[in-house]
Amino acid sequence: MTDDPRLPEHVRRNRALWDAWAADYAAAGARAWAREEPTWGVWRVPESRLAVLPPDLAGQDAIELGCGTAYVSAWLARRGARPVGIDNSAAQLATARKLQGEHGLDFPLLHGNAEEVPYPDASFDLAISEYGACLWADPYRWVPEAARLLRQGGLLIFLCNSALLTLCQPDEDGVPATEQLRRPAFGMYRLEWPGDFGVEFHLSHGDWLRLLRRSGFEVEDLIEVRPPDGSTTRYRYVTLEWAQKWPAEEIWKARRR
Ligand SMILES: C[S@@+](CC[C@H](N)C(=O)[O-])C[C@H]1O[C@@H](n2cnc3c(N)ncnc32)[C@H](O)[C@@H]1O
Repeated sequence: MTDDPRLPEHVRRNRALWDAWAADYAAAGARAWAREEPTWGVWRVPESRLAVLPPDLAGQDAIELGCGTAYVSAWLARRGARPVGIDNSAAQLATARKLQGEHGLDFPLLHGNAEEVPYPDASFDLAISEYGACLWADPYRWVPEAARLLRQGGLLIFLCNSALLTLCQPDEDGVPATEQLRRPAFGMYRLEWPGDFGVEFHLSHGDWLRLLRRSGFEVEDLIEVRPPDGSTTRYRYVTLEWAQKWPAEEIWKARRR
């Protein structure tokens, strides 16, 4: 994918990164597409335990911000929604298109930056992101953009690493979080891990709340995900023991005023 100088620096860097990583996410994407019941986060906690999605999605216009291989959009489509996926990586979208063909599902997939989505105001009832724009895009850009895209009463759902996990994560790649706080909570925003792991964004709970409210949302829920006994993950940055004591992932739900 050619570099686009009009994009913000973090978007360009994350594009190159995800184009390079896409092949490693194809198999996991295929497994997720094949799953009947949605599961959430790195521990794949079932929807029946977490109740992330609205009970009735029929006819809802939905946008997945940073859709990657677009399995969340596939789950939404199977529940009667009309999803659109947007992603910054052409390579991730190539996997998504292949999986659409294999599963006989067709919905729009856009190559672009979730901080600036080419849809009119109030186009959607639901905006959702699972480790997508909510981790890799600037929250001070993508949250107001999600607010613009949603209709009044529309729902924003996003799942990310918890603030606590981010504070306890060692710098070294693949070393699991410990009980030690590694970095300041105040001022948490743009985060670059040592090595070439792109640009992530993390906020404190207070900063998320203020940003969401200022952007036109009322927060309805903050689900702290506790994986059940026996859960497994392919990621090495957190152990099950840690994630059963402290929330490693959190899911925000906010309603457009
Ligand atoms: C961990 S994947 C999450 C997506 C999906 N849940 C999955 O696992 O396939 C992160 C995705 O966010 C996308 N992304 C990063 N920055 C983005 C941005 N500014 N706008 C849209 N997508 C972005 C990446 O290209 C990548 O596909």
